[in-house]
Amino acid sequence: MKAPLPTEPVFENPIPVEATLNQTTDPDWSGLQTAVQACTRCELHQTRTQTVFGVGNPSADLLIIGEAPGADEDKQGEPFVGRAGQLLNAMLQAIQLTRGDVYIANILKCRPPNNRDPRPEEAALCSAWLKRQIELIQPKLILALGRIAGQRLLQVDTPLAKLRGAIHTLPMTQTPLIVTYHPAYLLRSPGEKRKAWEDLIFVKRTLGGYH
Ligand code: URA
Repeated sequence: MKAPLPTEPVFENPIPVEATLNQTTDPDWSGLQTAVQACTRCELHQTRTQTVFGVGNPSADLLIIGEAPGADEDKQGEPFVGRAGQLLNAMLQAIQLTRGDVYIANILKCRPPNNRDPRPEEAALCSAWLKRQIELIQPKLILALGRIAGQRLLQVDTPLAKLRGAIHTLPMTQTPLIVTYHPAYLLRSPGEKRKAWEDLIFVKRTLGGYH
């Protein structure tokens, strides 16, 4: 029997991630997938079709974190499969990456009804799952897509424009984190694509792809 994950919100957790890495009580990748599928920690389990765990290479250097599944993702059980996902694929292609080269997850594993923003308590309750994914993936870099993912991961309320263009560190870890626009925002504001492109070059350079 797997012991349950800690219930405290993960990014407020005062225990450094390093200190939790070797705990035998923490689930491995498949145990984590099983636990997420069965999750009833918040109300969203009542309205979801299925949980959306993540997709890609669980040993990836780059972990991309979006906000929450939408209707398409809820149906298919995979993050970023709708229009925003197609743009994300094109953004990855622009820096010679595919979905299989990276890992893609969200702040929330379940779809908020009517695509409303994640509530802070939902993000807090869901955060232990993402924390464990980060521990297991051990990415070299996290790319947060959009204001909600950036603010939530960094535990700040700084506007997105001010979060861009810097290498932050995920609190309680050594993991570098860059913030860029959410592809759904870029679909609504295509004029900002140039800035997103700059961010992607920054990501590639930070990963050591461009010298
Ligand atoms: N938007 C997100 O933030 N995540 C998805 O998985 C899909 C759309």
